[in-house]
Order: sequence, then C-alpha cells, then structure tokens
Amino acid sequence: MTQTLTQMAVEVLTTADGREKTALSHRHAASWRASREAGAPIPIGEASPPLRPARPDQPELRNPREVPRRRPGTPEGRIALLHAVAHIELNAVDLHWDLIARFGHVPMPLGFHDDWVQAADEESKHFNLMCDCLEALGSHYGALPAHAGMWRAAEDTVDDLFGRLAVVPMVLEARGLDVTPGMIEIFRKADVPQAIAALEVIYGEEVGHVAYGSKWFHFLCGREGRDPKPLFHDLVRQYFHGVLKPPFNEEKRAEAGIPPDFYWPLTERLEEDAP
Ligand SMILES: [Fe+2]
Ligand SMILES: [Fe+2]
Repeated sequence: MTQTLTQMAVEVLTTADGREKTALSHRHAASWRASREAGAPIPIGEASPPLRPARPDQPELRNPREVPRRRPGTPEGRIALLHAVAHIELNAVDLHWDLIARFGHVPMPLGFHDDWVQAADEESKHFNLMCDCLEALGSHYGALPAHAGMWRAAEDTVDDLFGRLAVVPMVLEARGLDVTPGMIEIFRKADVPQAIAALEVIYGEEVGHVAYGSKWFHFLCGREGRDPKPLFHDLVRQYFHGVLKPPFNEEKRAEAGIPPDFYWPLTERLEEDAP
C-alpha cells in the first residue's frame, strides 16, 4: 500500500535522529515531486501527527534563559551560533512537515503541498549544511544545549491554519531574513568560507519560505472573505509572545510579499496588553 503525503509527514516527524530525519525528508520530497511530474500526485490523506516531533537525546533542551551566550568573536562563539542555527533548521524541517500533516483535512490546492514539501526539503539541506560546518570545526549538533521553546508556536496553532501561517513563516522565518546577513558578516570576518557559503544558501532559500507563507495566508483570506492585514495583526498578537523587534530587512521582506504595514504595527504593545 502506498503512503499518503500526510503519512510521509508523520514518518518524518516521528524519526528522532537529525541526519535520519532529514534523509527521510529528502526521500519523501523526491517521491512527491516525481508523483507530481508523472501527473499522478500522491494522495494527501489524513494523519495524526504527534503533538511534539521525535528528537535526538542530544542536544539537551533548556529554557532560553539558561542557554549560555558566547561572544561571536571567538571560535566557541561561532560554533555556538552554527549550533543554534542547526537547531532552528531541524525545527523548521518538523514545522513544515507538521503543517502538511496537521492540516491535511483542510482542502487546499496541490500548489500548497508543493510549496511546503519544497520548504521541508530545503530545511533538511540547511540542517545538514550546518552539521557539516560544525563537524569541520570539530563539533557536532548535540554538543551544546539548545532552546526548548521552539516548538511552542506549533503547539499554540495546532488547530488554526491562519495562525500557523501568520506566526511560523510570516513572523519566525521572516525574522531569519533580518538576522542572517549579520551572521554571514561574522563568518566573513573570521574567514570561514564553508559557513559563509552555507548561510548564503539558507538566506537565499528562506525568502521563498516566507513568500509561501504570505501567498497561502492571502489565499485563505481571499477564500474566506477575510481582510488579511487586521487578521494578521490579531493572530500575531494572539499567538506570538512579545513584540516584533526592528531592524527589519525591508527589502527581503518585500521580496517575500510582506509589506511594512504588516509588521511595523506589531513592534508596539497594545494598551490593553501593557503591564
Ligand atoms: Fe532553513
Ligand atoms: Fe525556512
């Protein structure tokens, strides 16, 4: 019996080891693409993804406040930075497959699945690129503690596709566009060509993920007759804990279809949330 796409997604989510998870993710993405090219798409189906994906025993997950900060001007600091990005990428692999698995019951055009399979495939590459960089520097993913809170956005939006799209690609991944150029600069100063090349791949491809978020958020709004901008503001205030922090990469955000009037108003607390 052939697997459905949502079953494939659950299989990735329930694989713990990072390299194994991403290898499976690449294989499933290739099968999806082949089925699309053959004009016989794998059925989407419906599946029950776990509330939290399987993860390796290492890294130890800690409260963000208890993850030691290291200065990026030192070799240890640069390893810590790559380790943090590897952790984000592994979460991103699961986030994209979870989006596919969790919302399989919502009828969506096949292009929606094409985009998120593509994004999951690219996140898998990003994770492996970061692992390769860590290993070249004598470390590995799992060697340092990592943030525990990263899956919260997924749990908060388990039953809200609008909320998921608003918070994950359009806020969290858009934040990646803001901070990645600064990271590339750190590795340029330290002359680490492998890390520069890897981060440039990530930077280029993340624009696409944010754009997929904006595209499908607007699609859903159009289908249900909702006004995208105020809805986006309400959802981010509901599900994202805290305000958005400038500076923003306005150019890349624009390229990804996120206009300034979507994010600037979220840099301020509403009166009613003030402490
Ligand atoms: Fe990524
Ligand atoms: Fe991404």
